[in-house]
Amino acid sequence: MSAGRDARPLTPTIDPCWLGPAVTAVLRGRHVSLLAAGPVTDTLRQELEAAVGPAGTVGGDLTGEPVLVLARRDLLPDATTLTGPVRRAVDAAHGLGGEGFALVGDGRSAAIVATGERGLLYGYFHLLRSAATAGSADALPTLDVVREPALAIRMINQWDNTSAGDHLGSVERGYAGDSIFFRDGRMVADRRRIADYARLLASVGINAVSINNVNVHPAAVRLLTDGLPDVADVARIFRGFGISTYLSVNFASPLVLGDLPTADPCDASVVAWWAGVAERIHREIPDFGGFVVKANSEGQPGPFDYGRDHVDGANLLAGALAPFGGRVFWRCFVYDHRQDWRDRSTDRARAAHDHFAALDGRFADNVVLQVKCGPMDFQVREPVSPLALAMTRTNTVVEFQITQEYTGQQIDLCCLLPQWQEFLAFDVSGEGGDTLACALARRSASSGVCAVSNIGDDANWTGHKLAQANLYGFGRLAWDPALSPREILDEWVALTFPDAADLHETLVELQLGSWSTYEMYTAPLGVGWMVTPHTHYGPAVDGYEYSKWGTYHFADRDGLGVDRSVATGTGFAGQYPTAWAQRYEHLETCPDELLLFFHHVPYLHRLHTGETVIQHIYDTHVEGARRVVTMRDLWRSLEGRLDDVSWTNVMERLERQVGSAREWRDQVNTYFFRKSGIPDRHGRVIH
Ligand code: GCU
Repeated sequence: MSAGRDARPLTPTIDPCWLGPAVTAVLRGRHVSLLAAGPVTDTLRQELEAAVGPAGTVGGDLTGEPVLVLARRDLLPDATTLTGPVRRAVDAAHGLGGEGFALVGDGRSAAIVATGERGLLYGYFHLLRSAATAGSADALPTLDVVREPALAIRMINQWDNTSAGDHLGSVERGYAGDSIFFRDGRMVADRRRIADYARLLASVGINAVSINNVNVHPAAVRLLTDGLPDVADVARIFRGFGISTYLSVNFASPLVLGDLPTADPCDASVVAWWAGVAERIHREIPDFGGFVVKANSEGQPGPFDYGRDHVDGANLLAGALAPFGGRVFWRCFVYDHRQDWRDRSTDRARAAHDHFAALDGRFADNVVLQVKCGPMDFQVREPVSPLALAMTRTNTVVEFQITQEYTGQQIDLCCLLPQWQEFLAFDVSGEGGDTLACALARRSASSGVCAVSNIGDDANWTGHKLAQANLYGFGRLAWDPALSPREILDEWVALTFPDAADLHETLVELQLGSWSTYEMYTAPLGVGWMVTPHTHYGPAVDGYEYSKWGTYHFADRDGLGVDRSVATGTGFAGQYPTAWAQRYEHLETCPDELLLFFHHVPYLHRLHTGETVIQHIYDTHVEGARRVVTMRDLWRSLEGRLDDVSWTNVMERLERQVGSAREWRDQVNTYFFRKSGIPDRHGRVIH
């Protein structure tokens, strides 16, 4: 099976997302030249052949005046012999890295010139995007751009289990059907859907993927042994799209497989065992990316089990992979998940920094620390993780969650791009220096971002059609964190709904406002949680209040919130660089939206807006639920103006969201009215 042939959508019933047939119309019937070689070039050639169709041609040299040239710079003749867009692109491509490209078009012809074949693939997708967003899908755009990714690592993590019998089903925290990778303990035999996925990811610049859940259940450990030939085949598919493949591994693998009596990272037999595993993998997959590891986290085994630390654990695996150029992504989501809720001194938010900050500089060069974007766990509102700011001498990727575990589970519309953009634009020092994205870019060629995927085998991939924008947008932001959510949504709408130009603004606005709407009707002012335990969908204000997970709001009759100040609380605020630590420490300077993350305040405390906390809770919950009704009504009015499948899917989800938002509104408002006894100033019904 060749990757390119696989790249066509599996059946007409599988949603092509943002790569529908209209997107390649610009190349139909054209004469194109492709000068490059390698696995990505093979994919690109097949992409181009499909795009130009029977009336066009894809050649391998510059004869016949091609309308589009895609060429590796070193394969082109001397620049002085070239003219037009090719000549300009050759000059512009000077000094580019392996993923960058120069794209020049004068409306009649265009040229993409790159140093490596991945740059050509990214340039190709940029050309399609430019044509689609220019509004005339079949005219070659006029443009002159040089693009390189801002971040070196742009990774997707699948939380796919090898069998549906595993904890939480086939895809952990998946809301779009079953895994496209695994079924009944094995890799799926028909891999066309995987190739379609690789194509979607490559089109937004993703260059790495880990294919199995970070909670590596015993059956999944076999991916390192019996499952390896299948992993190799999947890696071959991804390779064709410039994406390297990673596996999540269980730290206790030598034990689980029954090979050794220990997994102690300092034991010579364990070191040799992992070296052997890495060697076997690289024999099958020469460009294998490496491992993702969740160790000593939420019950997973790790180096602590042997009295060792994270450096010992991570460097063990890094040592095994180093001879083959592989990396270890070591997750920092480490905290006490057996906390006593009576204990007010332990603070889960502190945990990642407490565990890892002091280890900065001790990890091997091919270890990458994987730090969740916030200090808790992908809540609708959190401050930036102070650990992401602290590790200046260690490769770091910041982890986001595209799958909407705590943000509506692809039932509720919640476009997360504004949240991610805020994180990436965070001013690291608090004094106007680097943004987080710049700091990551500067840190190393092994730093960047990763995110938990939101796809499954649903026909539309993401359950909620509009949730496709989160996957699209993550890739685009990872490539260029300076893009605004609006710019990204402009692209996504133009590509996804090419026949609905008159609804463009409506669709963009609907997405843009959805995160703040979701925040309004769920947990207030950064306090987080209040979700139904285990499933994490829908409200349960005290659902996690007396649990072991370290997730509390501490509401009583007088007030609510978590005191994380240095002066009187857990001291978490002190983990930030001084300017931020000062800002978060004091009520006067703490931003409203994070007030209850950092402080416990009385219900009548006044926000910077002038409103009291309790009235803010009532107002935002009423307003949030009202906005969802407005969204639903708006969508209803679009019937017949979009394709039926998309319209029906979103309509059904919005109906459910209306019910969910109403439930959140009434439970949260009732809860706080009963606790505080303070009536709503506007006299609305509270139960
Ligand atoms: C969350 C999620 C888990 C997941 C974990 C992780 O806690 O609920 O399902 O395993 O994050 O990131 O490892």
